[in-house]
Amino acid sequence: MYDINKIREQFPMLKNKKMQGNKLVYLDNASTTFKPQCVIDAMNKYYLEENANSHRGDYDLLFNMDKKVNECRELVAKFVNSNQNEVVFTSGDTMSLNLIARSYGLKFLHKGDEILLSEAEHASNLLPWYEVSHLTGAVIRFIPLDKDGVLTAENLKKAISDKTKVVSVAQVSNVLGNVVDVREFARISHQNGAILVVDGAQSVPHMVVDFKNDDIDFLTFSGHKMCGPTGIGCLIGKYELLQSMDPYIVGGGMNVTFTKNIEMIPYEAPVKFEAGTLNLSGICGLKAAIEFLMDIGVENIHKHDVELCEYAISKLEKCEDVIIYNKNSKNGIVTFNKKGIFAQDEATLLNSKGIAIRSGQHCAKILNDFLGTPATCRMSTYLYTSKEDIDAFIDAVINGGDILDAYFN
Ligand SMILES: Cc1ncc(COP(=O)(O)O)c(C=O)c1O
Repeated sequence: MYDINKIREQFPMLKNKKMQGNKLVYLDNASTTFKPQCVIDAMNKYYLEENANSHRGDYDLLFNMDKKVNECRELVAKFVNSNQNEVVFTSGDTMSLNLIARSYGLKFLHKGDEILLSEAEHASNLLPWYEVSHLTGAVIRFIPLDKDGVLTAENLKKAISDKTKVVSVAQVSNVLGNVVDVREFARISHQNGAILVVDGAQSVPHMVVDFKNDDIDFLTFSGHKMCGPTGIGCLIGKYELLQSMDPYIVGGGMNVTFTKNIEMIPYEAPVKFEAGTLNLSGICGLKAAIEFLMDIGVENIHKHDVELCEYAISKLEKCEDVIIYNKNSKNGIVTFNKKGIFAQDEATLLNSKGIAIRSGQHCAKILNDFLGTPATCRMSTYLYTSKEDIDAFIDAVINGGDILDAYFN
């Protein structure tokens, strides 16, 4: 059974935390998530008891750290069903996507090749490819969304051609919450000679993602959106692809040797992509976070998110003043506006009642044309969000009073 009270007890940020004098209701989980005590403890333990570098010596402390890094790599591989040597530690999803664009895109794309993206993408999955386009002459095209904002395999089939070399999409949009059928996307991409890059920032924390069985070429995600620390994330890449790429950054730890003849021999993947000292406390925290998620069960987390999201939509739908942009959302994200109220004003009003949501463009700035509005409000749930949180949110949206209350109360 999903014991929400037991889960909530493990989060210090949920203990008597107030905002604007009210009990905090945190509904900005698509941005970042709270950390359970076990993650905080794992990071503290690193600094209090385990502090050492990795890959650089022969004493016990360091050897133990090496072991921990390997254990975390193994756990990540198990979590997304990949091999251990396909897991690269990065600083987060954005860094992972930049790494792919730079190390794969710049090496293998040429003038006239095509990169397929969607209008719903986050800046982190657009701008690295814009750079590749500018530097190689590859052309960027957008797979159209259907009328509900869903990125369908049908539309991928219409947009793809033998010029397409890369298809790069978010498995779950951070604004619309729709889920892309990545297995079908991989099949269609491969049939046309392209690789599939999956931005898993909003999927990996919330649903079971199967790198191997879905035949994904590259998968990226951030630790901080799944109860882990900031500054740590992963790039999962098919081993032969990782091996074919050159390192994005170079330095200590990633090379076997280098000489005065300006030659360097890198280690094999994944280590060749991990120049410099790793974020070791982050790795300890990420390991604890994944253990925590696996303990609860990612399927259960997904079910919880979907139930809360459907509940919120069913309530908001009854309010004539509310426009919902993603009524079919299946991932704990509800994007809406209150008629006649600018999104940021609505978010400010909710803040005055202790409710944290996000307003604006959510880093998906070209989606606004599709949505027909310059800004939206987004509420997003996670494994510790309670029905009471949603009720407080609904009550504030529907009966919240005048926006000026937020400024003058
Ligand atoms: C879909 C998507 N991609 C990429 C990112 C970037 O993640 P990070 O800032 O952790 O690198 C986000 C963050 O919100 C996101 O939602």
